[in-house]
Amino acid sequence: MASTADRLSERRNSVIPDIEALPESTLDERGRQRFCSALRRFAIQDMPEMLHKDFDHRVAPARQSEGVPLDDALAIEDAMEGEASYRFYSTLRYNAQEMCFQSVQEPIERALPEMIDLARAAQERNPAGGSLRLDPALPVPDYVSQLDVHLTPGCFHKEWVADDVAQGAVVALGARVFSASMSHRSWGGVAKVISRWLKHERHEFAPTRMLDIGTSSGKNLMPYVQAFPGVEAHGVDVGAPLLRYGHAVAEHEGIPLHLSQQNAEALDFPDGHFDLIVSSFFFHEITVDATRKVLAECRRLLRPGGIMVHQELPATCLVDAWEDFFWNWDTEHNNEPNYTDFRAQDPAVLLEEAGFEPERNFAHLLPDLGAYPDRAEAFGWNEPGRPRHGKGAWYVFGSSLPS
Ligand SMILES: C[S@@+](CC[C@H](N)C(=O)[O-])C[C@H]1O[C@@H](n2cnc3c(N)ncnc32)[C@H](O)[C@@H]1O
Repeated sequence: MASTADRLSERRNSVIPDIEALPESTLDERGRQRFCSALRRFAIQDMPEMLHKDFDHRVAPARQSEGVPLDDALAIEDAMEGEASYRFYSTLRYNAQEMCFQSVQEPIERALPEMIDLARAAQERNPAGGSLRLDPALPVPDYVSQLDVHLTPGCFHKEWVADDVAQGAVVALGARVFSASMSHRSWGGVAKVISRWLKHERHEFAPTRMLDIGTSSGKNLMPYVQAFPGVEAHGVDVGAPLLRYGHAVAEHEGIPLHLSQQNAEALDFPDGHFDLIVSSFFFHEITVDATRKVLAECRRLLRPGGIMVHQELPATCLVDAWEDFFWNWDTEHNNEPNYTDFRAQDPAVLLEEAGFEPERNFAHLLPDLGAYPDRAEAFGWNEPGRPRHGKGAWYVFGSSLPS
């Protein structure tokens, strides 16, 4: 009998062509995209190591000789912000980030009418059996609408024409340029890591209905359908263009996703509707007040015996001062003003406030074996020496409910 993965791939290339293949880059554009990928990798992976050395060997000794304590991220930022090394790093990182998204805009613009037609056809035909529910009256929260989050031009929600999918494409294809040179950022990798861990921890766990919060175009939702055959997979997001685009991708892939445009602070699903709730790269982009509301919604929506796993940036209380300084760069420089405030929260406290039982809550790193297949043996789930978050491991926090 064919496996679920085989059946899903047989259904691929069905009546809905691949929307992701429509924007065709010219040779010049491809060159630019490759340059942006390489620049970003250099800025975010190689430069921080050099910067750290500069801090340890030059900046810190000079400050300490003046009696300045350097024991938290703010003190390190204060010491580094005027230094040429830090300014050069920040400049490269800022521009590389912005250019990754800009590098896909022109091919997307040329293909836009065709992409919109394809997304409309996906909605009419739904060959994979998914669904798309949009709410044009939904107020987009200020923390999304008032700025281009992480320097993505047009952000997650802007619509320039009727039935627009452009921002879905800019976010999805820009993110591929953004992470193309980094082996530890495989497509849908977070979902693969979490589902593998869930199967390891709870062999018997077989969710029937799941929810991905802030799903964007569903890249971190789709792998769960393959990991848990038959699961009814729901994703919510405030950005309509992302959801239209994601729906077209999923219908092409033959994966039934149920996508709806909703604010995760107040969802319209009934109590206890899901036995698995996940999110990835979501909470650091919303306010702490909104985080509390979303976690309270998760508690309401999780069914007895259910599990909730959120992948996020490691909390301040879990990292050293240098790493804290490194992560908080985005707050001031990457249009992510809630980053530091979110990271300052202790996940254990947030979970308890939302009504989860302290002894069932967790916060830890999950190694991404997909990024280091040759070291699979070395990275047991709980071994010391695991890679850091963003360096081949993902930080997750969450909880579960008793059956
Ligand atoms: C950085 S993206 C993460 C996307 C995706 N989860 C991933 O792993 O790539 C954050 C997403 O959360 C969405 N979002 C922000 N605030 C939201 C809210 N209150 N309710 C639902 N979605 C929200 C944004 O539109 C965006 O698509």
